[in-house]
Amino acid sequence: MEETLQDKITKLLEDAAAKAIDPTGGVTRLLYSKEWVDTQYALKEQMEALGLQTYFDEVGNLYGRLAGSGDKDETILTGSHVDTVKNGGKYDGMYGITAGIMALHYLKETYGSPLKNIEVVSFAEEEGSRFPEVYWGSKNFLGLGKQEEVALVTDHEGITFQDAMRGAGFDFCSPEKKVREDVSIFLEAHIEQGNVLEKEKKTIGIVNSIAGQRRYIIKLHGTANHAGTTPMEYRQDAFYAAAKMTVAILGRAKEYGSPLVATTGYVDVKPNVGNVVPGETEFSLDVRHTDGAFLESFSEEIQGFIKEIADECGVVAEVDMWMNELPVPMDGKLVSCLEDVCKKQSLDYKLMHSGAGHDSQLIGRHIPTAMLFVPSRNGISHNPEEYTAPEYLEKGTYALADAIYQLAYQE
Ligand code: HGY
Ligand code: MN
Ligand code: MN
Repeated sequence: MEETLQDKITKLLEDAAAKAIDPTGGVTRLLYSKEWVDTQYALKEQMEALGLQTYFDEVGNLYGRLAGSGDKDETILTGSHVDTVKNGGKYDGMYGITAGIMALHYLKETYGSPLKNIEVVSFAEEEGSRFPEVYWGSKNFLGLGKQEEVALVTDHEGITFQDAMRGAGFDFCSPEKKVREDVSIFLEAHIEQGNVLEKEKKTIGIVNSIAGQRRYIIKLHGTANHAGTTPMEYRQDAFYAAAKMTVAILGRAKEYGSPLVATTGYVDVKPNVGNVVPGETEFSLDVRHTDGAFLESFSEEIQGFIKEIADECGVVAEVDMWMNELPVPMDGKLVSCLEDVCKKQSLDYKLMHSGAGHDSQLIGRHIPTAMLFVPSRNGISHNPEEYTAPEYLEKGTYALADAIYQLAYQE
């Protein structure tokens, strides 16, 4: 029996996941890791088997290309990121890549060569889960990757960014590299990573804006001391201070409520021994909102909490805001194009903002960009339980294909 598109995209997703299954049963595919290299090269083979021309750029973004027959060198780009968070799921990022591959294959088989070039990209990195650097793939696609900013940053094993990159067979873009000017549109398919579509029984989400986000690493320096002989009033307890800061900041975020979100996802306590008052604590803070001005004012409140609690606890605080992405609107014309496609295909859809960041957040500042979401079961993501039913994988792919058809097969 002929394989359906559902079968094919499910197989691509399962094959990709199988190359990066971690001991928890989740998917961990960190930038320039062995799992990352194996997956990129497997995707390259699968793209070629489906009739696409493939190439890597210097930093390891992988492209699959359907050349256009028109005389104008214009390219419609689709795709997403190949990297994952630690213990992540099978679909975050990878759905956008596999839906793009299957959409290009469907278009080629159904309509032949397009007028404009169409490419699907597997961006090298978006998550910031190995190094304190995000959007490395789309940054370099846009000519914004800065060697001096990342070369010597290290992962939690102390491996430098440049060693990891060169170990995977890639390198920094040469400074004189010309930025691509042929890509006129970017369309990204992605799982919703929330529960709105499922709750409202919608098949497709059409993103009209992406929330702004700021990410911090906060280092607190206190004094390690004896748990038995150090009276409470004489301690400089770095973990206690971190805990108070987290409670204050996240408590304030709860008071403000949606769409503000604040998360402490990572804590590193030193010396991390039961009978020693923690002398050092490093923790992460991830803060997001759809309104840039609000994000700015809340950031000032954060600084206030940190200073007040550091003084109270007698610790020194170092605050590094290593990421600051403003909210970005999606392109109105492309949003309407996706709406028309959903109406034509009788797909129940919802216009919505994205609380998650995506490559589209960066690219949308430079070229017309839009995103479509498919539902996430129970809204779970960044978790091995991440799941999207095959019928939604398929419907999202056909909607993506139809939108690309509107853009690439006619002037
Ligand atoms: O965290 C995010 O917003 C996305 O998954 N990178
Ligand atoms: Mn993610
Ligand atoms: Mn993602």
